[in-house]
Amino acid sequence: APGPAGVPGLGSLLPYRRDPAGFLLRLHRDYGGVARIRMGPMVVHLVTDPEAVRHVLVDNHANYVRGRLYDQFKLVMGRGLLTTDGDYWRGHRRAVQPVFARKALAAIVPNVIEATSQMLDRWETSARAGKPVDLVTEMLELTLVTLSRSLFGYDVSSQASLLKSVVDSSIEIMFPHGYVAEMLPGWLPTARNRRIAANRKVLDRVIDAIRANHARTGDGPLVALMEGARHQDTGVAWSDEEIRDELLTIYLAGHETTATALSWALLSAANHRWAQEEMEAEIEAVLAGRLPGIDDELPYTSAVIDESLRMYPPIWLYPRDVVADDVLGGYGVPGDTSVLLSPLVSQRNPEVWENPEAFDPRRFLPGADRGRPRMSYFPFGGGPRLCLGNLMALAELRLIVAMITQRFRFSLVPGDFVGYGDSLISLRPTTDMWVRLQSRSRA
Ligand code: HEM
Repeated sequence: APGPAGVPGLGSLLPYRRDPAGFLLRLHRDYGGVARIRMGPMVVHLVTDPEAVRHVLVDNHANYVRGRLYDQFKLVMGRGLLTTDGDYWRGHRRAVQPVFARKALAAIVPNVIEATSQMLDRWETSARAGKPVDLVTEMLELTLVTLSRSLFGYDVSSQASLLKSVVDSSIEIMFPHGYVAEMLPGWLPTARNRRIAANRKVLDRVIDAIRANHARTGDGPLVALMEGARHQDTGVAWSDEEIRDELLTIYLAGHETTATALSWALLSAANHRWAQEEMEAEIEAVLAGRLPGIDDELPYTSAVIDESLRMYPPIWLYPRDVVADDVLGGYGVPGDTSVLLSPLVSQRNPEVWENPEAFDPRRFLPGADRGRPRMSYFPFGGGPRLCLGNLMALAELRLIVAMITQRFRFSLVPGDFVGYGDSLISLRPTTDMWVRLQSRSRA
């Protein structure tokens, strides 16, 4: 099959760097469901056609591996679930899966309720003083507490700002810029490599503290699983390095993603008063003033979350390397090229989504998805590499959005337009999201 059309030569590099999401949205508009570009030395295909996405993630997933870009990630995260393939990945995934299973979710609820209640009590003070709060900062703080208490059994939030600066710097380093520095071997004492080593040291210390705490107290279901994990074939226990890499991977994969999803969901509600009112009514009808639980069904609130994950998927772009020549959407895609999957571009595809730029939770009310192709919506990926934490993230989102809505009306402080700008890995808002709070108990 012939290759797909796309931007010729190196014409993609600059517009991509300036505005990655905007560039890829236009690429889809101009060239359709499989489009070809060049990123430095690599030929890359943006795959947005739902059938083709399904082919990559599900039907022929073994032909689409982590590859070159993830080598950069390995510098910081090591060999964890995000960066490995094959038997190594499968063994690790099996080992940690039980902590993330549906029936294990109830265990996170008390942590989420407690941490959120504490935040909301603080918000009461801000509301009384007429002081706005920044959703981005608040959600990062909140999800750091819930994630580390629920999984690590140890609250790392005292080191939140250090962690944040190290993670930011690591993301900046790991994201390929096409510089020569990235092609030099890791043992050379370049400025970049020294920075990577320094960041690793900080992250290692945090992981050591988590493990030491577990050794003392036995707390942390995820740590317990890893400390007791054995390789199926040999019966050998996981090495220190394996445990470190996986703990770090789960921290890096689970913290900012959940915070970003919360920020965008709350921003969407703040910008659409009718959605907020509908959630308030539903939450009052279902909960009648009590706190939410894991089994409470809140279809409208869930639809607000789903719709905001459609418009603002925190992991908005990720790559795979093609192993052997394949056909995607009718086009030939050679081995040794790469594909990019973009939940953001796919989920704003006008051929699938009516009026895709409009926020409309009704798309996700029960029964509304009839006829929509399966991989037209995949904020958590799909197939065997489906997000490990997707059920946990959705449960947490629902609990937190419900608790906030129960107690506060919130509206965006007029000012900067909140966009997602030049987001690298997660779809970060370009500005803070200051919201004004109105306590509903006194309204
Ligand atoms: C994988 C999104 C929360 C842990 C993924 C992938 C996506 C994703 C799109 C697939 C990437 C790929 O196929 O290359 C999200 C979003 C989240 C979220 C949008 C929040 C709203 C979490 C949480 C955790 C987590 C809370 C853990 C506590 C992971 C791990 C993987 C993963 C370990 C790799 C799974 C594998 O390859 O086996 N996530 N995630 N994520 N996620 Fe999440």
